[in-house]
Amino acid sequence: MQASFPKAATDQGARHVDGSGSGSPGARHVAIIMDGNGRWAKKRLLPRIAGHRAGVEAVRRVARAARELGLECLTLYAFSSENWKRPASEVADLMGLLRHFIQADLDEFHANGVRLRVIGDYRALDPALVGMIDGAIARTAENSGPVIAIALNYGAQDEMVRAAQRLARRVADGELDPAAIDPAAIEGALDTADLPPLDLLIRTSGEQRLSNFMLWQAAYAELYFTDILWPDFDADALARALASFNRRDRRFGGL
Ligand code: IPE
Ligand code: IPE
Ligand code: MG
Repeated sequence: MQASFPKAATDQGARHVDGSGSGSPGARHVAIIMDGNGRWAKKRLLPRIAGHRAGVEAVRRVARAARELGLECLTLYAFSSENWKRPASEVADLMGLLRHFIQADLDEFHANGVRLRVIGDYRALDPALVGMIDGAIARTAENSGPVIAIALNYGAQDEMVRAAQRLARRVADGELDPAAIDPAAIEGALDTADLPPLDLLIRTSGEQRLSNFMLWQAAYAELYFTDILWPDFDADALARALASFNRRDRRFGGL
């Protein structure tokens, strides 16, 4: 069984990262577009794979920091549905790193009570990798600690298409009245259905675009852009992003 979270950002009883100074609730769910691995490597005259390897180290650091800061959920954009456009050798390198990451880090995640989740159409990946991912999700499913959600073969438009197909199938089966399709129904059909609402979306490397990431979920997320290249991102950088979040006034359309 997967854990469910209260949906409203103002729900009581949830564990919040300290929103010190502002009096507003701290962030529960932070997502990161981990960008800049290639440029990090280029600056050092290294091959792109070296940047991706250093990027995995940053994932380890930041996952630890997120746990220590008491975040409920950290979602990491690891491979987009558009990243297949890259040379086959780079795609293979990224898949190899992912496989190695699951093998090397699952024990630590599990020991720390982390629940591993995946968003995106990961079942389209290599069957052996899909098996490993399903095993990792199942092994950590009953943990009570934070969720680390990895976005794999993820594209927000693809996620919304799959959600529409799920709802359409239920309508065709006579289970769902089209008039009953509201934002909650769509939210419930997305890959993120049982994750807390997205509070803060970070992108590294100076790019200021969403690149098809969490378009629905970002409707009222705070956005934070930093020039730091992903392999250089660390606990301090995450703390600075959260401090910026805590200074903001979220109005959700109200006053
Ligand atoms: C992010 O780094 C990692 C992935 C998209 C897999 P990039 O590989 O996009 O690095 P840059 O943008 O070329 O520097
Ligand atoms: C977004 O980065 C995808 C991931 C971080 C996995 P990209 O490097 O693929 O994005 P664009 O191509 O610069 O928009
Ligand atoms: Mg990039």
